[in-house]
Amino acid sequence: MKKKVEQISFKARDIISIQDLTREEILYLMEKGKDMYTEEQSGNRYTNSLGKKVLFHAFYQDSTRTINSFNAAMQELGGIVRGFSGKEGTSVMKKECIRDTIVMAEATHADIIVMRHPKDGSVQWAADVAHVPVINGGDGTNEHPTQALLDLFTMYLINNDKLDNVNVGIGGDLAHGRTIRSLCAALSNFDDITIRWAADDILGMPDDVTRCLKKRNVAVIRHKQVKDVLRQVMFYYMTRPQFEMMSGNPVENQKKILKLLDVYRITLEKITGHNFKLMHPLPVNSETREIDYQVYFSAQQHFFTQAENGVFMRKALLDEILEGTIYERFTGILPDEIRIGNNRLKRRIKARRKEGRFIDNIHGGIVLDHLMPKTEDKVKETLKLACGDCDIISAYLHDSDKSFVKTSVTYLDERGLKMVCMCSPDPTVNIIHNGHVHEKYVYLLCRNDNCITRVLEEDVPPRFYKDDGNIKCRYCRHTYEVSNPNMAQFERKHFLATLPSSVIPVGK
Ligand code: MLT
Repeated sequence: MKKKVEQISFKARDIISIQDLTREEILYLMEKGKDMYTEEQSGNRYTNSLGKKVLFHAFYQDSTRTINSFNAAMQELGGIVRGFSGKEGTSVMKKECIRDTIVMAEATHADIIVMRHPKDGSVQWAADVAHVPVINGGDGTNEHPTQALLDLFTMYLINNDKLDNVNVGIGGDLAHGRTIRSLCAALSNFDDITIRWAADDILGMPDDVTRCLKKRNVAVIRHKQVKDVLRQVMFYYMTRPQFEMMSGNPVENQKKILKLLDVYRITLEKITGHNFKLMHPLPVNSETREIDYQVYFSAQQHFFTQAENGVFMRKALLDEILEGTIYERFTGILPDEIRIGNNRLKRRIKARRKEGRFIDNIHGGIVLDHLMPKTEDKVKETLKLACGDCDIISAYLHDSDKSFVKTSVTYLDERGLKMVCMCSPDPTVNIIHNGHVHEKYVYLLCRNDNCITRVLEEDVPPRFYKDDGNIKCRYCRHTYEVSNPNMAQFERKHFLATLPSSVIPVGK
């Protein structure tokens, strides 16, 4: 293996998104994985570097490969594994939140946590809470970075230790799968990459992924037919329909997908005469069968080897992250930084006299302003739910495109604010003390319905960062469009200027 380049260090790092790894870091892991792979081939298993360090797996969603691959990797390195796979039998069933579960993992002496969860951004939140490194084992439709590493590793081994100049076809459900999202981002670090796909719109490549790839000079080519893709690629990466991630009626979804399946199913007939290697993150759905059983016996089939390659990649990663890290004494104190988010878009309090018309008859309370037209009744109901029997003083549509709700409530907590936001995005919150506007801000909440910040019980404070002039959610990394019509351009700019310019780890 090449000498470790000085600036490459994974020590004590969280691995949340494949986008946080550079080309050099990915290649370094490939080389390290290849060393372990080669030793294994000659009968010498790389073992015993980690003493008795503890890996805690918190898997809120089912898993066969990822969890066992991490466990095998940790145990072969001399570590210990604990944790849970599936919520059954844990206090998650008693509504324990992620934050408390993570603190408990640390209380049982975890040195590293691997987490999987159905909500986008949930693992970033766990990493914000934890004092030990956290690895994303799959969060919602968002990312699965270690899957992307093992996918690349499979290509690397087949392609003579290179990842440039690779032509990949992707198929199945591109719209809802996290593996595709991470794989595409991982490939975009390399030169002369072509990604080809052919799928119906509802299963097609998400626009934001295509945009990102194009920006990074990846050729993305949409073909009319799967057979046109299969003709021209070195690797074909198939995925199963991700029914559990689809919104809408499950029965209708199933019907729609079954109709499409004949078009994209991989059959012996379709692959005969082609040389590509067939990959799949697995599992194959044995009911819908996106890959025919006969294909399992073909020379193109590479998905079982691909799964085995995961052990080498995870070993390489755990070895790097945990090597030399020192035991962190458990304190039970949460990192201070997670207390509050930078979601409040502060506005200058000006022209108070003009504001007087909103506050003339309230001495103390909250005025929610710039609500979407006709949402005031929903907001009123929400406030009653959030604040008990609060006194709604008035609720008007004060011109054609905005309305407001005036209440005697003097304190609205984060959950209450989120509930209001879910009825009417980006409300302006005016806190009135002694008849004056004491504080005024626009409250922002990520618009992605599957984002962890929208789960009230998890208490994740919305946080944003700036990326290329855009506001992005710290957790699910979706771009945020501010819709408050009265927010002046300079206020948006001011807010942007105050945001961190990357996903800065907190608390570690
Ligand atoms: C995942 O967790 O994303 C799997 O590895 C792939 C799948 O479930 O289809």
